[in-house]
Amino acid sequence: MQATATTTPLTCSLFPLQGSHGAAGPSKRNQLRWTKLQRKCSQKGFQITAQFELKPPPYPLNALEPHMSKESLEFHWGKHHRAYVDNLNKQIVGTELDGLPLEDVVRRTYNKGDPLPAFNNAAQIWNHDFFWGSMKPDGGGKPSGELLEMIERDFGSYEKFITDFKAAAATQFGAGWAWLAYKEEDKKLVILKSSNAVNPLVQGQDYTPILTIDVWEHSYYIDYRNRRPDYISVFVEKLVSWEAVGSRLEKAKA
Ligand SMILES: [Fe+2]
Repeated sequence: MQATATTTPLTCSLFPLQGSHGAAGPSKRNQLRWTKLQRKCSQKGFQITAQFELKPPPYPLNALEPHMSKESLEFHWGKHHRAYVDNLNKQIVGTELDGLPLEDVVRRTYNKGDPLPAFNNAAQIWNHDFFWGSMKPDGGGKPSGELLEMIERDFGSYEKFITDFKAAAATQFGAGWAWLAYKEEDKKLVILKSSNAVNPLVQGQDYTPILTIDVWEHSYYIDYRNRRPDYISVFVEKLVSWEAVGSRLEKAKA
């Protein structure tokens, strides 16, 4: 997601400190640094000159029914994802992060494991954009071509991969994500899991994510209540866009 040029009459001095959404907050040192940045912004009285936009899923909100309901998307995308975008825009306006591509904001605010306050919102925007693009109506089934060959090579079989991916998603304690990623150093596919907003962009230099499932409770509670394993099974069997995953793998290897 790129920052787009828009203007609003608000000044950056109006924006509150916020952004710890389910993860440990920043260290005192970073909190001080952040406060200084915001004070500087306030003193200069910057106007908002750029902000991220809420990108819609690549299909209508009812397109994943009956596996993921329109109501679930209305809350998950329309409220949770929107809140991350709104909060990030408030946090970074007038700071040195304003105007950077989203991936750069994610990496810089992760700050080598000592996250700045904007990290959670920035990473959650990136994660959700990636999650919506990991699904499609009438998805699921089995991949084909080079993607299937690499899955079989790196996990032993497609069935073993599914077992391992489901286990990673089911055993992520609390809020988080499970991922399939291409590891450049080994030229192999690997399964990762991460807590809260953390993603493979900051888990190592050579991971390129190609598939993700959101296992925050807000992603399945409306349709599946507390049955996370049922949601994970439906995601794999009915929703995954293997075309998108294959396309991401091609780009990762290029
Ligand atoms: Fe989510």
